[in-house]
Amino acid sequence: MTRILAGIAVVLTTLALVPIALIWRSRATTSALPRWVVVTNMAKQPKLVGQSGSPLFADGRAMRPPVAGTVARGSLSTNPVLETGLEGEAFVDVPPMPVTPQLVKRGQERYDIFCAPCHGLSGYGDGVVARRADRLQEGTWTPPSSLHTDLVRSRPSGQLFNTITNGIRNMPAYGAQVPPADRWAIVTYVRALQRSQHATIADVKPELQEKLR
Ligand code: HEC
Repeated sequence: MTRILAGIAVVLTTLALVPIALIWRSRATTSALPRWVVVTNMAKQPKLVGQSGSPLFADGRAMRPPVAGTVARGSLSTNPVLETGLEGEAFVDVPPMPVTPQLVKRGQERYDIFCAPCHGLSGYGDGVVARRADRLQEGTWTPPSSLHTDLVRSRPSGQLFNTITNGIRNMPAYGAQVPPADRWAIVTYVRALQRSQHATIADVKPELQEKLR
């Protein structure tokens, strides 16, 4: 009798370990299959996704394009210079807002987030993404420009703004992620960075110059 009970105890204990083993396994391994969801709530529901087409409208599109001339709230363009960096056909060289320490500081913060990964914190084109691509040697990488070349320094500020907005050659556009005022803030910070790398002794206050010589 006790032997039977002991046998049952062993079997039950072994079975009790099965769920723990399964949980451990699913935590420790990866799978290409979708997660197994018990309560789906609204995570799964019929919907029309991009390219899926729809019988609802005559043109087969699932979504309606905005009516011509529609302007989304808050995006009415009132100042073309602010949004394009262009005055008529030409790039402006002065930002369309007062350049304050706060603006430059904001620009530094945004630059460090959006630009430094490629262009590097000091703007020499040696950000972490660029350094990693160099290491991988895949042969497909265009190195980010140094922002301190004579060419980039000679670009009008409006053109730098345009580069951020629309990208340039192999550089992607950041207009969708960075609102216009922040793009201008970044431009002012890039200008400050450029200045910092081309400073001369004459930029230092006279009373401090002696100490540096
Ligand atoms: C994903 C990497 C990447 C990011 C992020 C990036 N850039 Fe670039 N940038 C590039 C590359 C690559 C080039 C060179 C493109 C080429 O020559 O094809 C470039 C070129 C430039 C140039 C030189 C354009 C010229 O006039 O020749 C400027 C200025 C510039 N980037 C500014 C910025 C600023 C400001 C940001 C942040 C808003 C930024 N970039 C974010 C990759 C990046």
